[in-house]
Parts: sequence; C-alpha cells; structure tokens
Amino acid sequence: MNTKKLLYIETFGCQMNDRDSEIMRQLLAATHDVTDSMHGADAIIVNTCSIRDKAEQKAYSLLGALRKRKRENPGLIIAAAGCVAQQEGAKMLSRMPHVDLVVGPQNIYRLPELFARAGEQGKGIVATDSAETFHIPPFLPVLRQGSPYKRFVTIMQGCNNFCTYCIVPFTRGREISRRAEDVVAEVHHLAAGGVKEVTLLGQNVNSYGNDQPPGARTGFASLLRQVAAINGIERVRFTTSNPKDLSEELMQCFADLDKLCPHFHLPVQSGSNAILKRMNRRYTIELYLDKVEKLRGYRPEIALTTDIIVGFPGETANDFQATLDLVEMVRYHSAFSFKYSSRPPAQSCQFDDSVSREEKESRLAVLQERLTQITLARNSEYIGRRLELMVEGESKAADGQWSGRSGTNHIVNFPSHDILVPGQLVQVVIREACLHSLRGELIEEEAGSKESGEWRTTSGSCPCAR
Ligand code: 5AD
Ligand code: SF4
Repeated sequence: MNTKKLLYIETFGCQMNDRDSEIMRQLLAATHDVTDSMHGADAIIVNTCSIRDKAEQKAYSLLGALRKRKRENPGLIIAAAGCVAQQEGAKMLSRMPHVDLVVGPQNIYRLPELFARAGEQGKGIVATDSAETFHIPPFLPVLRQGSPYKRFVTIMQGCNNFCTYCIVPFTRGREISRRAEDVVAEVHHLAAGGVKEVTLLGQNVNSYGNDQPPGARTGFASLLRQVAAINGIERVRFTTSNPKDLSEELMQCFADLDKLCPHFHLPVQSGSNAILKRMNRRYTIELYLDKVEKLRGYRPEIALTTDIIVGFPGETANDFQATLDLVEMVRYHSAFSFKYSSRPPAQSCQFDDSVSREEKESRLAVLQERLTQITLARNSEYIGRRLELMVEGESKAADGQWSGRSGTNHIVNFPSHDILVPGQLVQVVIREACLHSLRGELIEEEAGSKESGEWRTTSGSCPCAR
C-alpha cells in the first residue's frame, strides 16, 4: 500500500525557482508523491518570487487564500519558499500564522528535516539562514518526470552585482558556484537518462567560478565547453548574463560550439548611460553595442533578447528616448519590459521615484508597441529560411499539428502525420510568421541533399491570428 502523502507545489518567478521546485520535489520524494491539484494535497509549497511588486502580491494572495484550507484541514502543511520567504522570514509567520514553514532558497536542501519538524511541532518554522552555512550539495540525482528531454542545471547561486533596483542579492545571497566536476557529473547523469538539452542557470553565469580559489577555478566558457562535449547532449543554453562580464572567451564559444544554441539573452535595462550609471550596471551603451556586434560576428544567426525597465527614478524623456533609440539599433528578436518598481532594501528605493505612475505606464505602452513591431519584423525575416527544431510535442489545438523549438528559441508549429518523439531534431522551412510563433513545413531530406541544399516540403498554413 502506498503510504506516501501528496505534495502540491505552486511556482512563481524565474527558471531558478523552477529548478528549485524540482529539487524540492526530489528531496521530498521519499515521503511525498506530487499531485497537480491543490485539492486533496497533504502539503502545499508556494515557491515565491519578489522581483517586482506584482509577483510578490501574487504569492501573498495565494498564501492568504490557503488560510481557509488550513482551517478545514489542520493537518495540512503549508510552506512558503523562494525569494519572498527569504526576504520576509519571521514577518511572514506573523502576517500568515497558518503558514507552517518559511524556507529561503539557500535552505531548501534541509527540506526533509524541516518538513518532519513542521508536522510534529505545530508552530511555524523559519529557515532563512544564509552565507556561511550554505553549500550546494555535490550531486543531485534527478527525477524522471516533467519534460525528460530538456532540463535546467543550476551552476551557481546568488549575485554580487547589486544593481540598485534589484532585490536578488538580498534574497539569494552572494555568488556561490557549484564545482565544475559536479555540474559535469550531473549533465552526464541527465544525458544517460535521455536528456538532449540542458540550460545552465545562474544569476550571472559570466562570473561563474570567480568565487573559487584561483588555482582550482573553472571559468564559464570552459564549463560550457565541457558540457557541450558530453555525448547525448545535443543543445546547450544558458541564462543569465550581465553584459559587463560578457567575455571574449564566451563569445568565441558561439563560433566553436555547434551545440551552443544561437540565442543570447542580454539584459540591457536602459538605453541611457546616465540611467545605467544610477542602476550600477557598470557598462555603457557603447560597450553594450560593441558586444552585440561582436556576438553577431561570432555567430551571425544569433537571436538577441533582452530585459528593459522603464520609469527608473530620475528617467527623463530624453533617457527614455535613448532606450527607444537603442531598441531601433539592436532590433531585438524579443524583449521583456517592465515598469520600475521599488524593492526595499534594494538601493534605488532611496532614490526619488520621480516618474509618475501614468508616465511609467505610457512609456511602457510606447516601448512595448515598438518592441512588438520589431519582433514581428524579425520573425518575418525567417520566412523561406531553414531551421532545425527540437520537437516539443503535439499541439493541443489541432490534429496532426506539432510544435518544436529552434536554436534561436522560436516556437515553430508544423503539420506532420508521422509520430514524432519529444526531443527529436527535425528540419523545417519557415512559411509564416506570427508574434509568438512561426509556422513551418517539415523538410523531407533527399539522400545527400543536406550539402547540395535540395529539399522538399510538405504543405500547411498558419492557424494563429495575427
Ligand atoms: N523593477 C522593475 N523591473 C525589475 N527587474 C528587476 N528588478 C526590477 C524592479 N525593481 C527586471 C529586470 C530584470 C528582470 C528579471 O526583471 O529587467 O532583468
Ligand atoms: Fe524572482 Fe529573482 Fe527570486 Fe528568481 S531570483 S524568484 S526572479 S526574485
């Protein structure tokens, strides 16, 4: 008889949080099976994000709504994990007394012990210790569930940059890199289990290894080369990088490593040097553009994406115009853009938040409209071009429709009557472009056609509305 309890996890925020949720599932696997519905769960973990005000409110409103569930089922264990948990600590318990456990990102490895205590103790536990007591265990076996052909691998925790708007150094602590041997062993283990694509995760992967003693240091470019050399791994991605630390060595990897996907997420945040300075980004737009040009030199087909904040304290109309100008110069394949939100104790919360809410909203609308047009134009450039896709699965919407992801990180839909396997690589030619996806036709390779460039396609048309 299965005596395991049922665990439900709700995850907000970034890929680091996604990966942390996987780790938490795995750590509790001896005592808990995962359920995809909150109803009937014996334990609920809310893995929270605090990057912007809205994200934090979402987490609080879900946790608040769980109060009723706890009243109905006092044995239910409710845990708040992630960045809000780290930031709020004991305050969260006084605000939400129905929460049993508050666990920060650096303490998730203690979860089995914390869960056992939470069940017995009947009063809230706070596990938000950091720095000296924190270490990343050397090897984490990985569950065989979720999408088995692609996985995230955390290579480092924390951030030392202290961009003035950013809460991450306060919630995830200082940079700590995992040992290169441990990362490589984990990827070997994944490849042996059928994984084809890995995404290496860190807040600032470019400074990977800087916290290690000089003699024993492996840099990020070298780690990438080791990971790309692993048999069975067909694609490697990574995120995220601060442009100031983007090294020539890393750019060179885009020329040398076929498996390294031609996609680079390079957050710029603002097009104005004055604002970048106040954000403590420690690069200028000239340096940023120089790196963009070099990256395109190393890998001409590379797709660039970015993050932009509007309405940072003191952002003038001219500063905002500089951001619009930058967007015209780079022509990003896609971009995330946000209204500035004050995140104490990040330093910028002491700056005069001089841009009104209405102004922030109107700047965001102007920027997003332009970004959307550029993305559509960029997507249209793929029409008639050939892309290799990793099959993600059959589309939910229509019969015989499949979906895959290109190395450039585009979702491409295409018809096929064959049964394809998620993780399989196929070739398509792009026929139509929408804002969030492309539409392609499978290429049926003629013998020896790859070199001669000859291929035939099967037909189809784009079902999505523009
Ligand atoms: N306000 C608005 N956007 C922010 N981001 C980070 N902190 C803030 C903030 N205080 C954005 C940045 C970052 C992305 C993950 O979230 O653009 O790159
Ligand atoms: Fe959110 Fe940043 Fe924490 Fe990720 S690291 S969950 S984006 S606050």
